[in-house]
Amino acid sequence: MEILGIGAGYVGGPTMAMIADKCPEHRVTVVDINEEKIARWNSDNLPIYEPGLDELVQRVRGRNLFFSTDVDEGIRRADMIFVTVNTPTKSFGYGSGYASDLQYWELTARKIKENSDRPKIVIEKSTVPVRTAAAMERILHSESNGVNFEVLSSPEFMAEGTAVRDLNDPDRVLIGGRHDTETGRKAMDAVVDVFANWVPRERIICSNIWSAELSKLTANAFLAQRVSSINAISALCEKTEADVNEVALAIGMDDRIGSMFLKPSVGFGGSCFKKDLLSLVYLCESYGLTEQAEYWHQVVKMNEHQMERFAKRVINQMFNTLAGKRIVIMGCAFKADTGDTRESPGLTVARYLLDERADLVLSDPKALENARIDMADAPVRYIEDPYEAAQGAHALVVCTEWAQYRDLDFEAIYAAMNKPAFVFDGRNILKHEELFEIGFHVFPIGKKALTRFETS
Ligand code: NAD
Ligand code: UGA
Repeated sequence: MEILGIGAGYVGGPTMAMIADKCPEHRVTVVDINEEKIARWNSDNLPIYEPGLDELVQRVRGRNLFFSTDVDEGIRRADMIFVTVNTPTKSFGYGSGYASDLQYWELTARKIKENSDRPKIVIEKSTVPVRTAAAMERILHSESNGVNFEVLSSPEFMAEGTAVRDLNDPDRVLIGGRHDTETGRKAMDAVVDVFANWVPRERIICSNIWSAELSKLTANAFLAQRVSSINAISALCEKTEADVNEVALAIGMDDRIGSMFLKPSVGFGGSCFKKDLLSLVYLCESYGLTEQAEYWHQVVKMNEHQMERFAKRVINQMFNTLAGKRIVIMGCAFKADTGDTRESPGLTVARYLLDERADLVLSDPKALENARIDMADAPVRYIEDPYEAAQGAHALVVCTEWAQYRDLDFEAIYAAMNKPAFVFDGRNILKHEELFEIGFHVFPIGKKALTRFETS
């Protein structure tokens, strides 16, 4: 079979590489309109950083995995098409700031229609509002040339930083389609067969197409809600000398709650949680479900508040003036093990501190290339090496939980810093007591500050 992926981004690249690796009998092509991106997928300098991805791509590229900019030709050859184009938040017109912008999806559907002279299976992998498949079916079958398209929804649940692991061993693969027609059932079986090459059958679940679309938004909303919930509690901990890590451990041991996604943080980032929550809010609103919209909106608001609260704490604790003070943002990636800076809390905090005219240094082991693009308008410096970044600094502000930050030589860093030296640990990854012993004033999330000063 010829399998095509349209959109060679964070999802399309790794997903199609995994399919190629696990299904050597199929030929897999990934196309994108972005020439530079495709050139990088064809080079040793892949456009995204993901642990294990270089090895995976090297194994299959040129064997049965191909990257190309020829979208039309890719479609013509394909039997099965996975669509993984971006669906960002709309920034204009009705629903601006909330609704998903489906222009890339719709353009793709039109391209598929134009370039098809035989039946094809089209699978939504991008995250879309529930009932998008209906619109896509209408476009694909408009002015029908007799070609039948089966539109399915198979949302992707992988997380960045663990994409290869998640794709290799997913909790579940969800395939939504139409059970009520013969061609619908056949299409679902064909997609099940692809994943059954490596995913145990009991973890491949089939549902109706609308449930599949809505499950994706719901999964992200629930995950984000857990982070906002623990972050809301972190604020209360800071007022009461409760320790949020202890609270998270205690509640997480209740099987009904579970221990995952209870890590307090400066806030959640990434291209999807906020976007998908806002899309859910807009969907609820558009069906007249105002209370439900408000309920989910609060998860986003709590997250924005957490980032602002953290930035304000930096300002307040440093005597309400940051002007001219060298401050190091440690971590520009929205989470560890990725170079992705989309909606990164580190860059959001950086903007707050820049408003105070801090002399900012941005540091990160993998994300400086993207940070430079996002912060192109800002007067900041980029220094990858944390030791060099900390020279003469007044404060370290940890915004990404990079494992390597934990074991830095903080004695040496302290010696090189301005005093009093501050650490704001927005991820609670550092050894706070040890830092305090060295001489730092330490401000974790949701825990008592360790400082020799009076705190407010
Ligand atoms: P991305 O921006 O990294 O990649 C999307 C790619 O699609 C881009 O390279 C873009 O050039 C390409 N594209 C856009 N229009 C095109 C067209 N008409 N023809 C060919 N290519 C086109 O986005 P992403 O992070 O990979 O996310 C893609 C979708 O997957 C989104 O809907 C997102 O919500 C969802 N998703 C993302 C993740 C994640 O971890 N990033 C996880 C699960 C689901
Ligand atoms: C998330 C979901 O986990 C994936 O299942 C989903 O496929 C994906 O969104 C998507 O649709 O794009 P991702 O955003 O890549 O994946 O990464 P997460 O691990 O979910 O982290 C999101 C943010 O929440 C990060 O900033 C992370 O640091 C933060 N987080 C996560 C916390 O602050 N605390 C936690 O306990 C967990």
